[in-house]
Amino acid sequence: MKIAFINGPNLNMLGTREQGFYGVKTLKQINEELETRAKKHQVELLFFQSNFEGKLVEFIHSLNSLAALKGIIINAAAFTHSSIAIRDALLSIAAPFIEVHISNVYSREAFRKNSYFSDKAIGSIVGLGDYGYHAALEYFIRLETLPA
Ligand code: DQA
Repeated sequence: MKIAFINGPNLNMLGTREQGFYGVKTLKQINEELETRAKKHQVELLFFQSNFEGKLVEFIHSLNSLAALKGIIINAAAFTHSSIAIRDALLSIAAPFIEVHISNVYSREAFRKNSYFSDKAIGSIVGLGDYGYHAALEYFIRLETLPA
């Protein structure tokens, strides 16, 4: 099975960006750790990060033709709170998605409490740091291995 990891704007700055909220790991380190976990379960990961809304939309569209795609794990970062275009892109394809936020968006500014995705996500994971990505991956792995 394949899982797509999508990260939105400014997440390429993880490691140095607001460490109190986002920790000290770079996105590269986080992705490598996810890769290690995925390999143990013969899961193929596709990683995509962009600071541009249209590029995120186009990447999501490109996933529609991908055989064996089990799901999407998305941290749309600031676009979570603003992007109807990314919401519509996620709804335009068949794969289900889980929403992840590294920080606890509910304990921060009021504008971060609104998500354009959470009502359509399988679930949302917030505030668990980079472990949130692992928890989402575990969910899809578990789903795959459950008896029908
Ligand atoms: C974030 C939370 C967003 O509000 C913020 O704009 C981000 C990162 C998180 O992972 O906690 O860039 O999605």
